This record gives sequence, structure tokens and C-alpha cells, in this order.
Amino acid sequence: MPAVLFHSPNDSPTEWEKKLREFMPNLDMRIWPDIGDPNDIEFALVWKLPSGNYEKFKNLRCICSLGQGVDHIFTDADLPNQVHIMRLVDPWMAQAMSEWILLQVLRFHRQVPEYEDLEKQLKWKVLPPPETSECAVGILGLGELGRDAARKISALGFKVAGWSRTEKEVQGVECFYGEKQLEAFLNRTKILCCLLPLTPKTTGIINSKTISQLPRGSYVVNAGRGQHVVDTCLLRALDTGHLAGAALDVFNEEPLPSQHPYWAHPKVSVWPHVSAQSNADSAAGQVADAIGKVFSGKVPDNLVSREQQY
Ligand code: NAP
Ligand code: GLV
Repeated sequence: MPAVLFHSPNDSPTEWEKKLREFMPNLDMRIWPDIGDPNDIEFALVWKLPSGNYEKFKNLRCICSLGQGVDHIFTDADLPNQVHIMRLVDPWMAQAMSEWILLQVLRFHRQVPEYEDLEKQLKWKVLPPPETSECAVGILGLGELGRDAARKISALGFKVAGWSRTEKEVQGVECFYGEKQLEAFLNRTKILCCLLPLTPKTTGIINSKTISQLPRGSYVVNAGRGQHVVDTCLLRALDTGHLAGAALDVFNEEPLPSQHPYWAHPKVSVWPHVSAQSNADSAAGQVADAIGKVFSGKVPDNLVSREQQY
């Protein structure tokens, strides 16, 4: 039987091996860097395999991301041609992400930073109550995660819009698409939530121009990738008051360096890339299915486009 390569700085190989064996008792899993003969490897289950290694596996047929994003795979300039690239599409992760996005939306909408500040000053002060039906939430990305979050936020009565590359229809959500409609989408958005994949087209999408197209007093929530945000632009907009706050789960450099201004910024909340973690319990079944398909010469589900890089 061909072998499966496993590499991840975050996920437990023993946990994944145990769960995958429930579906494939004869699984031959090689845990990086003890991989034996590289020619045995036909399937790679990976998170951030260091660049330059894929081409060593001459019989590799599929690379599966140990997450929903695949940008860590496309950073390898020598990615072999003809190899399928796929990712997890896990409803458990979508639920986790929607909970995190909702948490941030409700935190800003219900004035949590303001009330926490007043509490610290021992001040009993009542702020004007927010109007949910007027609070415009905008989701960048209407894919597996963005659609779920948009539907759940809309179900609470918020005014929700989403922006995608191609035209979409999502019930209860105003849908914008393409570069031409980005400005109109930003102009109507008070709480901007990024659930885009990182690609050459989306890198740096939250910059001084796009931030200036949000109304004054808006918020930025980012759970896509740190590279979606130009940090200097976000910090400047927070300091001038154009933005009222930001909640960030992903960063240009992870772990976020201890001297980074985000840590101590009073308007920024920092999370250690935990909004939707990969979960062997929920995702092993789909990975086992993909391994089975690849080993029997079939095409696995959840492929990504090499051209679009997501
Ligand atoms: P997905 O299903 O591939 O959806 C991507 C969405 O982004 C689609 O709606 C797509 O538009 C849109 N998009 C891509 N390029 C665009 C562009 N140039 N202009 C406008 N829209 C564009 O991805 P997903 O599963 O929802 O995941 C999204 C991202 O979330 C991942 O790539 C990853 O970076 C991040 N993530 C983070 C965590 C975390 O813990 N922080 C966990 C999981 C995932 P179309 O619909 O038109 O194709
Ligand atoms: C996590 O960031 C993922 O892409 O699944």
C-alpha cells in the first residue's frame, strides 16, 4: 500500500493517525521528518511543509491541506505539476468560525470595549442602545466559511452583505462581487469581517484606500490571513479614529512578536489563530475518503484551483 506523509507544527500526528485508522486500518502514515523511502509517498496531509520538499516525492498524487486555507502550499515555487491540491471543508470548522465572527460582531455592536472601559473607571454610565437592524456587517468572502457566518449573523437581525469574486445569491444577504463592486460594499459596511483566502489578488486588500472607503467609526475583524491586512494602514486608521476597533486572529508573522504594536493597542484584540482549528474528530472521515480515492486512481473532493490559488 502507498504511504501518506504527515507534517504539521500544530496538529497531533498520533491523534490524526488514530482517527484515520478507524477508516483505514492498514494506513501507512509517515510522520515528517521520518518518512522512509520518499518514493512510497503518494498522498501528503500537510500544514506548512517547508518549501522545496514536495518535489522530492516522485510518486506524489495529492496534497491535502490540514486546514481550509491552501496558501501555505502555493508558497512552494517548485510545486509539482499534475498533483491534485485539496483542502478540508469541515462544517465543524464553519460552526467554530461563525461563532468567533459572531462574538466579535456582538462585542463591537453591544459596545463591550466601551462598557469594559467604564467598568475599569468604576463609572455607571448608560450609552445609547444600538439598533441591530441598522448595523451593517460586511463579509469579505462568501465561501464555505463566509456564507455560514453571513447567514448566522443575518438570522440575528443584522444588515448583512458579502463580497465574492463571482456573482452569488445568499438568502438574507446583499451580495456584491468583483473589484468594481468592492467600494460600494465597503461604503455600506460598519463591521468588516475578512474570510477571504490569501491569493496574489487578495494580499494587502485591507489597506489605506479600502479602509478609507469604510464609514468613520467602523471596525475590522480578520480571520482570513494576516497578509490581507497592511498593518501600518490599520494602525494609522485606528489612531486617527477612522476605525473604532479591530479584532485579529491572524497576523503577518505568527506567533505575533512580543514587541508588535497590536499587543498593547487599546483598540485591538489579539487572538492566537484559533477561530476555527482543524479537528481530526470531524475531518478524518473526509481525509480517509480522499486517500482512498487517490490510491484507487480517482479524483478526490474539495480540490482547489491552481489558477485561482484557492
Ligand atoms: P472558500 O470556500 O474557498 O471561499 C473563498 C471565498 O473568497 C469565495 O467566496 C471566493 O469567491 C472569495 N474570493 C476569493 N478570491 C477573491 C477575490 N479576488 N475577490 C473577491 N472574492 C474572492 O474558502 P473558505 O473555506 O471559506 O475559507 C476562507 C479562508 O479562511 C481560508 O482560505 C483561510 O485563509 C481562512 N481560515 C482561517 C481560519 C482561522 O482559524 N483563522 C480557519 C479556516 C480558514 P467565489 O465564491 O466567487 O469563488
Ligand atoms: C486555518 O487557518 C485554516 O486555513 O484552516
